[in-house]
Amino acid sequence: MPDLRGVGKTWGFKGGYKLAEQKATTSVLYEETRVFEAPRDLAENSNVMQWMKKKGFKSEREMRAWTGQNFIAFWDEMAKTYADWFEPYAQVLNWQPPYAKWFVGGKINVAYNAVDRHAAGAKKDKVAYIFVPEPVDQPTQKITYADLAKRVNKLANGLKSLGVAKGDRVSIYMPMIPETPIAMLACAKIGAIHSVVFSGFSAGGLNSRVLDAESKVVITTDGFFRRGKPLPLKPNVDEATANTPSVKNVVVVKRAGIDVPMKAGKDVWYHELVAKQSDVCESEKMDAEDRLFILYTSGTTGKPKGIEHVHGGYCVTPAQTLSWVFDIKDSDVWWCTADVGWITGHSYVVYGPLCLGATSMIYEGSPDYPDFSRWFKIINENKVSVLYTAPTAVRMFMKAGDKWPKTHDISCLRLLGSVGEPINPEAWIWYRNNFGAGKLPIMDTWWQTETGCFLVSPLPITPLKPGSPTFPLPGFNVDILDEDANPVPPGSGGNIVSNSPWPSMLRAFFRDEVRYKKEYWSTYWDIRPGTYLAGDKATKDKDGYFTIQGRIDDVLKVAGHRISNAEVESALVSHPKVAEAAVIGKPDEVKGEVIVAFVILKTGIEATEDLKPILAKHVRTVLGPVAYPEVVYFVNDVPKTRSGKIMRRVIKAKALGNPVGDISALANPESVEAIPLIK
Ligand code: WT7
Repeated sequence: MPDLRGVGKTWGFKGGYKLAEQKATTSVLYEETRVFEAPRDLAENSNVMQWMKKKGFKSEREMRAWTGQNFIAFWDEMAKTYADWFEPYAQVLNWQPPYAKWFVGGKINVAYNAVDRHAAGAKKDKVAYIFVPEPVDQPTQKITYADLAKRVNKLANGLKSLGVAKGDRVSIYMPMIPETPIAMLACAKIGAIHSVVFSGFSAGGLNSRVLDAESKVVITTDGFFRRGKPLPLKPNVDEATANTPSVKNVVVVKRAGIDVPMKAGKDVWYHELVAKQSDVCESEKMDAEDRLFILYTSGTTGKPKGIEHVHGGYCVTPAQTLSWVFDIKDSDVWWCTADVGWITGHSYVVYGPLCLGATSMIYEGSPDYPDFSRWFKIINENKVSVLYTAPTAVRMFMKAGDKWPKTHDISCLRLLGSVGEPINPEAWIWYRNNFGAGKLPIMDTWWQTETGCFLVSPLPITPLKPGSPTFPLPGFNVDILDEDANPVPPGSGGNIVSNSPWPSMLRAFFRDEVRYKKEYWSTYWDIRPGTYLAGDKATKDKDGYFTIQGRIDDVLKVAGHRISNAEVESALVSHPKVAEAAVIGKPDEVKGEVIVAFVILKTGIEATEDLKPILAKHVRTVLGPVAYPEVVYFVNDVPKTRSGKIMRRVIKAKALGNPVGDISALANPESVEAIPLIK
């Protein structure tokens, strides 16, 4: 490996990336002592145990340690086990920190691995997706691998007919319907790069993402169903593409039967586009490192980061981690409840389960429509065996009451999972008791948009502690470091890092090399180049169990959705009456956090109660419902450093009634007093 010490300096940021003015090291007072052993038959028959036996490992710890040390050999074996290559790779890993190339020289396509090889083989009549529409009067649809292949091919040919070619970007702005994965796979098939934008973003959120990606085509729907009502979606696209010269066509799926204006020469109905296409389409032979998708996620600034992922890595780790962590067998029905608009949907609704040839559930709508029994009905009717959801959903059901899980027989479940934010031990126990009959293990998986797959997670053989994602997975070298890059001692916390690359790691930010290097690689560069900084704080207990404590940067987690404080602030400031804004996350028992905004109005604007909901709605219009501020406060000033940076940490401490720490270095320490205590 080349010696790159000091290179950080030449990138132009002295001393590395400062972590939101916080110390990396903290200590923990609470320690979880309950341990839940894995059920013996589950552990014995698990996919991971079969592999361990074959390799002669005596214990899980030994296996995790060995695969970490020998990560290149490990991923080489996994790439050969889980993926089919058009042409073999010549080199497993080329690591020039901070740039990794995996499976160098290999030719592959994730659409081939996810669909074609199953459709052409023994799994052709196996159901790939079970789709449950939200309206109760619409029937469940089952899509086999053979059906899926035809539908993907027709759209792939349709996109080609619109002039979409390898390397072009296509934005996908759709609800949770089968056409969404189909659109992603159709892009992958022809080598186009998809950029899925969560449908809970508004025209503004879509516009900035389409502009940045310079997409040629946007795929959307006329509308979608929410709580039984058809709502329009296409008008957002019209607004979002009014000033995007790159967009040549908008392809519209008829989903909700809503009358939408169609612009001649630009807008195309999906059903008309695919009707005339052949259902045969060869997969483009992609280089392992060719880009598969961009997914925008939130960082510390107001500008979303376009995280780039590649074909090769995506054929390997989503499938392998899904097989090992959730023990997916041919007979399982897998339900990952995440929306495809987020990374969880990319890796574990689309690429992971399809590459494994598994059967997945897709549900279009709200968990409480028509009431809180809906999920249990879906689990029961479709014999869902493995359920993967978010702590916010668990806490919502917990609040709704114990009676709902009892409305249907859900004994078909055999394994549960959690993702997106820390799951508090109380919710963990409730989930186990009420979804898992008091006995099912919960796989709490820690990972990120950037990582593409789980990094820290239990296996079905791991003794569990409530609220802990346990240990780094096989093939990873994840650790918790203090500011000097020393692993933290048990009981203390630090920065979660990865000391080695992995196949589905992000490769870059779309057209922003400086930010890529700065955000993930600069912090420890001068001590140990190639150390990936995840952006989370974590602790390890005396047995080495990880507990995630949350973000080190100014990024919110609202109902598990990642939103940047800065993005909401700039949405507020875009209102003509607002001069400045500071946004913090307030702890919430269901959503984890809710958004609270402190707003400074322009001179002469009266601070009236009526203006508060107007500003909150303005954020919804600009960014989308996902970023709706729960409470707005008016203030005359907000605490700032001398260089003008808003001190959100100080605002948050004061607002929540916690010690604010040393504020003597602030430019305006008196502003702290005026921050109200929020309930
Ligand atoms: C951030 C990444 C990865 C899928 C969904 C979120 C938090 C994620 C956990 C977990 C505690 C978690 C972290 C991480 N997070 N999973 N099991 N326990 N925190 O992806 O939107 O990129 O967010 O979500 O803070 O950095 P994302």
